[in-house]
Amino acid sequence: DNVRFLNNQVPPYDLTYSDVFMVPNRSAVGSRLDVDLTTRDGSGTTIPIVVANMTAVAGRRMAETVARRGGIAVIPQDIPLDVVADVVQWVKSRHLVHDTPITLGPTDTVGDALNLLPKRAHNAVIVVEAGRPIGVVTEADCQGVDRFTQLAQVMSTELLTLPDGIDPQEAFDRLHEGRHRLAPVVDGDGRLVGILTRTGALRATLYQPAVDAAGKLRVAAAIGINGDVAHKAKYLLDAGVDLLVVDTAHGHQEKMISALRAVRALDPQVPIVAGNVVTREGVRDLVEAGADIVKVGVGPGAMCTTRMMTGVGRPQFSAVLECAAEARRLGKHVWADGGIRHPRDVALALAAGAANVMIGSWFAGTYESPGDVHRDADGRQYKESFGMASARAVQLRTAKDTPFERARKALFEEGISTARMYLDPERPSVEDLIDSIVAGLRSACTYAGARNLEEFHERAVIGVQSLAGFTEGMPLPTSW
Ligand code: XMP
Repeated sequence: DNVRFLNNQVPPYDLTYSDVFMVPNRSAVGSRLDVDLTTRDGSGTTIPIVVANMTAVAGRRMAETVARRGGIAVIPQDIPLDVVADVVQWVKSRHLVHDTPITLGPTDTVGDALNLLPKRAHNAVIVVEAGRPIGVVTEADCQGVDRFTQLAQVMSTELLTLPDGIDPQEAFDRLHEGRHRLAPVVDGDGRLVGILTRTGALRATLYQPAVDAAGKLRVAAAIGINGDVAHKAKYLLDAGVDLLVVDTAHGHQEKMISALRAVRALDPQVPIVAGNVVTREGVRDLVEAGADIVKVGVGPGAMCTTRMMTGVGRPQFSAVLECAAEARRLGKHVWADGGIRHPRDVALALAAGAANVMIGSWFAGTYESPGDVHRDADGRQYKESFGMASARAVQLRTAKDTPFERARKALFEEGISTARMYLDPERPSVEDLIDSIVAGLRSACTYAGARNLEEFHERAVIGVQSLAGFTEGMPLPTSW
């Protein structure tokens, strides 16, 4: 029930993603599009991607966008319950195909538009009057224009509109023919219901949204192990979350086990994820307490200082390998949480047996993460990220404590408080990153001769490499 190592060479030490590679197998899978990436862990994802419950990463726009492409986002435990309930309701009211538009009125200003444009990858404001689109404004329309100029003066009024319910391929063709990058989507009365870009239409033909039994986009939420755990879990279940994540840095502890039991007692059906652990004993205890999915990872996270502070943790590839084998033996699943920086890491985590991978910081540097876009001295765009165990997160979380209590808690930080996550100019949206992850993963499956993720885990053959082997695989800088 475990992955195969090349020439049966299993090293006596633990490995992380960069330490390993896969060799190609004889394959009968002709096309990357023949690969099915649906997961079978009960999470309902159609691509194996989960957005980590980090305040700087997972908010409503992230949740909407990734669920439309088949992943799921976990709303962090630091968000007040009523706000999480709003987010859940909002995500569930989103359309499965077209994106939520940014809308302003004709007398709103260029400044208003410039503030909102970086919030969405489609880079357009739809100008509406009485609910109907009358113009489109893009960043180019705002260049060199006084910020107080009204949008009516800069908007383009040559609109192509698409009818709600249009087949995505037809939408693509119409956009292409009309040489439009995007178009407002309207209902029978001409009222704006969404926006569709050419790339969005294309993606709608390649991805399947992650939906609940009622056909609404899926969303998950996290709770910690302190306080009235059962109350919080019940609140979130009543709010309609599809999956509960019971989360703490050291998941293999008594408090987690009692929290899990309390949550499981509330609802025998809802998928419960719990973590984090890195040993088979940890998996066993959390499964025994009611977890369906165990989250694996101590210290690989990009914002994480745990290993340097404590010496505790485990190289992530080996942690996933061992925990996935144990979960599989128990008829359960694991998610590989943390340390994913390249599409290859996703493929390797899944080869090791994970059902889904959790990605945090990498997705912080996208339009869809909650923070604002900043520019550095060279004009490069970035967003701020911070660890959930950082002094900053602790300060935010303990706002109701006395100053003394807050100061005391902040002393026990195990995370980075401010990091700049640069937006990749070629891939500034989380959907661009998902495209590259999914392309890499589909291709890895065809190299392995696998039609689905289960076969991928069974067929993958893993080798161990030196640092020179790893660097050999990196393309040369283009100015070399
Ligand atoms: P990435 O590498 O994708 O990892 O950012 C996301 C995961 O990192 C964990 N995390 C932390 N771990 N201190 C830690 O020790 C922190 O402040 C922290 N913040 C996030 C968490 O498991 C997350 O899913």
